[in-house]
Amino acid sequence: MKKIIIAPSILSADFVALKYDVKMIENSEAEWVHIDVMDGHFVPNITVGPLVVKSLRNVTKLLFDVHLMITNPEKYWREFQRAGADLITFHDEVISDKKKMINDIKSSGVKVGLSIKPKTSISKIEYLIPHIDLVLVMTVEPGFDRQFFIEEMVYKIRNLRKIIDENNYNCLIEVDGGINPQTASACIGAGADVLVSGSYIFLAKNPRLAVKSLLI
Ligand code: DX5
Ligand code: ZN
Repeated sequence: MKKIIIAPSILSADFVALKYDVKMIENSEAEWVHIDVMDGHFVPNITVGPLVVKSLRNVTKLLFDVHLMITNPEKYWREFQRAGADLITFHDEVISDKKKMINDIKSSGVKVGLSIKPKTSISKIEYLIPHIDLVLVMTVEPGFDRQFFIEEMVYKIRNLRKIIDENNYNCLIEVDGGINPQTASACIGAGADVLVSGSYIFLAKNPRLAVKSLLI
């Protein structure tokens, strides 16, 4: 069976005790830290900036998966790279020259991902798949945690898996939004490689067990 990566989203963590929530991730079977960056413009919510990424970089070696839900990622991605991001994902919907953005991020030495909102179809980004490390399929409308998984996204994941496999592309499929054991297993069945989960993990009584339950 292929390896599934769990990326807990710190959006649902306790920001007063962020360091300890990241330590919890280290002591669980999760391997990445998903950091949701929101600007109050691309999405109706505001979260964290590079300062938080920089501080967390001092306390863990876990891979930092930075999800930029911002209108001007071309203006700010480098700040996140300097702060210690390992993977930077931007949204298809906000960038016209995506090839340039992909090349710029890659040549800075970090991995690059492209995200699509639920209403954006794969055909729009298909030509870019050979050039990126990851496609992030949003399974809720971006902006908030604790939303319900949009079931139709399972077909999108399955289609994407088909395209990647048929062409032998070296690109991971990450899913984000409404992930719990049921939706996780639907996504894994459809071909997802990386599962982001916020509230299901951090609101659980035992977050480490919650991580484990996504892998069963
Ligand atoms: C939504 C964010 C997600 C969110 C996931 O815009 O990108 O990463 O925090 O939270 P849950 O797992 O609660 O849907
Ligand atoms: Zn996210």
